[in-house]
Amino acid sequence: MVKAPLIIDIIHSGYYKRVLRDLFLASLFTILEVPYTLKRISVKIILASSNQGKLRELKAWMEDFEVYAFGEVMTPFAIVEDGDSFKENALIKARAVYKALDDKSAIVVSDDSGISIPVLGHIPGIYSARYAGVGASATQNLDKLIQTLKDNEIKRTRAYYTAAIAIVCEKGEFCVHGWMHGEVIDEKRGDKGFGYDPLFIPEGFDETLGELGEAVKKELSHRSKALGLAKIILKTLV
Ligand code: IMP
Repeated sequence: MVKAPLIIDIIHSGYYKRVLRDLFLASLFTILEVPYTLKRISVKIILASSNQGKLRELKAWMEDFEVYAFGEVMTPFAIVEDGDSFKENALIKARAVYKALDDKSAIVVSDDSGISIPVLGHIPGIYSARYAGVGASATQNLDKLIQTLKDNEIKRTRAYYTAAIAIVCEKGEFCVHGWMHGEVIDEKRGDKGFGYDPLFIPEGFDETLGELGEAVKKELSHRSKALGLAKIILKTLV
């Protein structure tokens, strides 16, 4: 296991040396302010998600790869996410799609993510997608969080998003994480982004992600940070 500002867990991988080398190069290039870009790579990446907001962000971030949602290449099916961490759930999703595809050349990428409120015991966390119950809509989940904040007389409090990105392919299983810290407020502001974004004010800003929109998210979101690491691993796999 490698501990860095963003934790990387590389599971039974013989590739860790290449991953570490690329991480080192990426950091060095960042320090030297040299653009570190990955060439467009012609390999099919299948995303194990049906969440349209996530798919939009994942595809935008992985434009140097050929990316498909799993619903575009096979009949989508329900996946029981019964892990007790973002990492476990991300791996459960990626493994399920990889197995169903039955294609050794496939590289499956999944995201498990959510919002956590420390003062409320880090809820809803891994239950973010079903906070208002199984099958609840994004609006129902958002409204439930607003109600919980109001019930606890919290107008504004610290919060953070977590994203775990898992990669499953013939060469092994990998998982990386990214976080975005900020605060949540007890009212919706803006209609950009998705999920809990209209409540979330990222550190260093005065507006919610619902008001700020995609450009800011692409720059500093939990998913972008995890994807930055995932892309370094993907490059070693193709
Ligand atoms: P998952 O699909 O099981 O990973 O559920 C993730 C849930 O967390 C989503 O349904 C959203 O409610 C929430 N979530 C994760 N990432 C974001 C984000 O970037 N913005 C807003 N909500 C998010």
